[in-house]
Amino acid sequence: MDQCLGLMSQLTSTSLSGDKSRLTKGIILAGGAGTRLDPITRVACKQLLPVYDKPMIYYPLSVLMLGDIRDILIISTPKDLPKFSELLGDGSQLGIGIKYAVQDEPRGLAEALIIGEDFLLEDNCCLILGDNIFHGNLDFFRAALHENTGATIFAKEVRDPERFGVVELDAGGKVLSIEEKPASPKSPYAIPGLYIFDHSAPARARALTPSGRGELEIADLITSYFDDGSLEAKTLSRGVTWLDTGTPDSLLEAANYIGTVQKQNAFQVSCIEEIAYERGFIDANALAGLAERHPNREYADYLRLRSGC
Ligand code: G1P
Repeated sequence: MDQCLGLMSQLTSTSLSGDKSRLTKGIILAGGAGTRLDPITRVACKQLLPVYDKPMIYYPLSVLMLGDIRDILIISTPKDLPKFSELLGDGSQLGIGIKYAVQDEPRGLAEALIIGEDFLLEDNCCLILGDNIFHGNLDFFRAALHENTGATIFAKEVRDPERFGVVELDAGGKVLSIEEKPASPKSPYAIPGLYIFDHSAPARARALTPSGRGELEIADLITSYFDDGSLEAKTLSRGVTWLDTGTPDSLLEAANYIGTVQKQNAFQVSCIEEIAYERGFIDANALAGLAERHPNREYADYLRLRSGC
């Protein structure tokens, strides 16, 4: 036990010394009607559907935690929000703080910045969509959080860019254009649902005009930074897998991917309790304590093993 506590103090001193001037809070947007997964989403919330062995929201939550973001707001519909809070509580068991806010109607991704304004209180913001999964080396994300000045988006070369926001880049990686689901994409680079914004994002979101479909578009918010010359796009390397899970096929592929990775390795993907421990948010005893809460013996044994207690 003492050994466990010693390790905790070591981790605490290295991982928790954030620079206040660069505090970044996280927002997970888990709203929307999940139309592309209808009829499943008539009774179930998309971002709580299983991706292999975990609720979908564990994956974006893990990304924020791996970026050492510990103040997190989850935005969802009035119907589904209580389910998230039942699952994750106030986050204290993971050594983080989770708050909740409602998006009454699907009025667009950029509205998350307006809903989150009182939570952000002039801090920087990392917005992640509740159906986006990132796996692999996340150093790119930690570096971007540190380096961001205006807004940072990421660019991933895909075979079907027309399904996503698309960023066109010049040879030096400078942004040339941003388009939402263009019929004829100017580039193969999709924009994953992970965005870093400075404190001006809520004011910019408020200044947007709703699009033809009545939504505040994330592409327009990004474009506002682009127009000011304060948008950076970072290309994701081959070491990072990005999966969007909003359709039956992509959900199945994501589940198969996570299942394969976990079966071939002795580790779990996006085990939020393990990440909380690894990042120094909780100590080994707390992790062992969390194991007791899980009736799933395999999961509980894994947490106990990782705690070393
Ligand atoms: C949203 C964004 C799109 C982005 C995608 C990533 O689309 O509007 O720009 O590329 O998420 O998952 P949606 O999947 O909500 O249609």
